[in-house]
Amino acid sequence: MELLENRKRIKALSNDDKREKVVKALSQIVFDDAKILRMIQTFEEQIQLANSTDENKRSQTDLFWENTFVRGLFDGTECGTYLGMDLGGTNFRVVRVDMKDGKANTQTKYYNLEKKLLVGSSSELFDYIAVSLRSFLSEETFPYQEVPLGFTFSFPSRQISLKRSTISTWTKSIKCTDGVGLDSVSLLEEAIDRLGRDTFPVRVNVVARISDTTGTLLAGNLLDHECKIGLILGTGSNAAFVEYIRNIEKWDTCYKDNDPSDKVVINCEFGALGDNGCLDFMKTEFDRELDRHSNHPGSYTFEKHYSGHYLGELVRLALVRLAADGLVFAETPCDKLSERWALTTSHVTDIERVTDGDSPTLQAFLEEFGVSSPSEDDILLVREVCELMSTRGAYIVATAMVVLLNHIDLPEVTIAVDGSLYEHHPKYHNNMASFIAKWRPQTKTTLRLVKDGSGQGGALVAAIEAKSAKRP
Ligand code: GLC
Repeated sequence: MELLENRKRIKALSNDDKREKVVKALSQIVFDDAKILRMIQTFEEQIQLANSTDENKRSQTDLFWENTFVRGLFDGTECGTYLGMDLGGTNFRVVRVDMKDGKANTQTKYYNLEKKLLVGSSSELFDYIAVSLRSFLSEETFPYQEVPLGFTFSFPSRQISLKRSTISTWTKSIKCTDGVGLDSVSLLEEAIDRLGRDTFPVRVNVVARISDTTGTLLAGNLLDHECKIGLILGTGSNAAFVEYIRNIEKWDTCYKDNDPSDKVVINCEFGALGDNGCLDFMKTEFDRELDRHSNHPGSYTFEKHYSGHYLGELVRLALVRLAADGLVFAETPCDKLSERWALTTSHVTDIERVTDGDSPTLQAFLEEFGVSSPSEDDILLVREVCELMSTRGAYIVATAMVVLLNHIDLPEVTIAVDGSLYEHHPKYHNNMASFIAKWRPQTKTTLRLVKDGSGQGGALVAAIEAKSAKRP
């Protein structure tokens, strides 16, 4: 990112004194080359720790670097009917995928999870899921007596095999009273048993548990065989990518199979990178304050720098600092600005869409925050803070992509991206693309929106698994 004093809007501020003070307050946001290089190096060091055979070393990092046990991608021969189920937040969906010659026909149904289920017992939650699955199946006809199902369960988990994993913690909107330490597929199977398997119109065989990142990677790979990374850029953020087995030291101790593939999909779980303090060098006062007042202080540090749940609050905190220094809204105090989390990422997305300073969107935002007569400087600074935070966010997540691309080391790679922030923000895509082109010029990289890939991915992993099960 360029120096603040060289930026157009900063230069356009009405006087030198203000310009100097704004530069002093906001320069910490600039994600410059020194920070980028240090983050690349730090991320790589953390990967080495996460990969180590030595448990002591592994405990020094917060990267899960989970083996997904997904060993192959699509080769165009996949055929049959598969089910996917996707639980990751406030609603969940069931997906049917019919595959023929490697092409997929997908049907999806969404089910709303009532608030009380999100904080009740895990068996209540999984009972509801099983009932919804049965109701989905009763509306369908199947050419087989048994259908394989892949479960996309996007909560931090320790993966033991393709099918088995234990829940490490609940995150996002789910906070069940139990479930931590239990296996999500067992919870699902037990709920199906409680309902009675004979009440299901077809036998369901749960063959895999994956995360939304792996699901997005698989859905992207079906559309484009160069796709080797799945990235979620929504409320939270995380990625999965295709890694060479030779790069995973801990591989031998945790998994042995007869699969001839030299690759495996890794679920990075990088949202928590930095919980051990390794990213403190790039934290601004705004990051630190946001963390102190977040639901889980000290946890999920990396995604707090840029993902959808946090971007708006970071902008608000920077504007609060400018207001406290008398640099913004000095004439018309803006009370709502002091309300934590009042400024959301969708406000930032709307403001970033503004092309000229005096647009109705900007007016609507300022009115919502009680600013009736903003000065020209106020407008310049609101837009500037939004752009600075968003650009920093795009560069931070793009840095993580560069690290993964260095591992993949191919001339051409597609990154499948799903999530509201990436989909709706007008500049994340371009900022990430130009950043990656600069920092990983050896790889022609394409970023591609793959909407709802995570649910479809559940069914797709079942299709890939069915193919490898047939292998002699
Ligand atoms: C959170 C979860 C992670 C998921 C990501 C995106 O970071 O811990 O498992 O992939 O959100 O939904």
